[in-house]
Amino acid sequence: MAIENIITDEHEESSTEVFLSDVANSDTHGENSPYFAGWKAYDENPYDEFNNPSGVIQMGLAENQVSFDLLEQQQHSSEATTSTNSGGEGSNIPSFRENALYQDYHGLLSFRRAMASFMEEIRGGRAKFDPSRIVLTAGATAANELLTFILANHGDALLVPTPYYPGFDRDLRWRTGAKIVPIHCATIQRETLEEIFDFITSKNIHLVSDEIYSGSVFSSTEFISIAEVLKARNYKGAERVHIVYSLSKDLGLPGFRVGTIYSYNDKVVTTARRMSSFTLVSSQTQNLLASMLSDNEFTENYIRTNRERLRRRYEMTIEGLRRAGIECLKGNAGLFCWMNMSPFLDENTREGELALWNTMVHEVKLNISPGSSCHCSEPGWFRMCFANMSEQTLEVALKRIHDFIAQRRKD
Ligand SMILES: Cc1ncc(COP(=O)(O)O)c(C=O)c1O
Repeated sequence: MAIENIITDEHEESSTEVFLSDVANSDTHGENSPYFAGWKAYDENPYDEFNNPSGVIQMGLAENQVSFDLLEQQQHSSEATTSTNSGGEGSNIPSFRENALYQDYHGLLSFRRAMASFMEEIRGGRAKFDPSRIVLTAGATAANELLTFILANHGDALLVPTPYYPGFDRDLRWRTGAKIVPIHCATIQRETLEEIFDFITSKNIHLVSDEIYSGSVFSSTEFISIAEVLKARNYKGAERVHIVYSLSKDLGLPGFRVGTIYSYNDKVVTTARRMSSFTLVSSQTQNLLASMLSDNEFTENYIRTNRERLRRRYEMTIEGLRRAGIECLKGNAGLFCWMNMSPFLDENTREGELALWNTMVHEVKLNISPGSSCHCSEPGWFRMCFANMSEQTLEVALKRIHDFIAQRRKD
């Protein structure tokens, strides 16, 4: 067949149906969820105190803006030092050329060192991290997917405790072909971690510990890392344990896309490093954050102040909800709380929960996430983020809920 005919035939075929891969056609991208639909509702009509006071308030985004002033201050003072010290041979400020050229695929050692020591500091020095085991990725999103590629084959299942971050439905399943089996799990304590570790050892499977909120614990109880359990056991069986971390939550820098895999398994470290060339962190970002995280005075003050501010936000939120007549699950960390709205469901089912969610987004104009999007086992729970806005906006949101519940009671 002449080449023109092949082209014409193919073109005719493609004008009826354009071929795309199974991955592209699969619906395991997880975006058909109220979690993402709520973001869309916010994007179409975003609240603004002055320009759009009746818009939707975004409470479905776990972003930490409460300590942004500290990050900005650190940046200003380091820029001031840079401008007086810049240039010149022997300067440790990377030049444009150093940032612009191909970097070491292993991630800059200065940044991996700074990251390891930040992860130790967050854990109060109770765990040690070796910079040579740190693999850098574009956020925890890439870290989780990359680990799934390494640990699971197509069709293998991951047991994930619920309620879980809705993005896992995409990150762990879509491109890897792995499946998720949700496991109902109330709270995780040290004993639970010990039991989980014994379980994975006895079953000869892996444990991925996503410790993205390790620095955002605001109660007097400290965060317990799987790294501490391993240390207490002299690292026996550690080769099946892998930690995921990122600067998106504790440091409030999701836009920089900085995540890490810390694996105790040499082969996983080597493979993850090879695969990380798909999801590198730019040298400019690494250099900037290496200098920020090496500033011990800053990190110490940041970790302490950020925790205090998160606690204040959390208390303000649960107190406001309590006044409205809504009880919350007792929390001790993170950027959101879990509110129990089951007394306000017309029907105690997932459909009832989604009907209430629809009212919350479109009438009350609050984008909160329904528990079903996080695979909660009981209907009526909603996730409300409290750290991605100003205190004034949070007050507006709490007032909207208060008025909605009061009206509902009257009706
Ligand atoms: C538990 C968990 N893991 C991973 C992620 C993704 O984080 P990143 O922005 O670093 O990709 C999130 C984001 O919300 C999360 O909550």
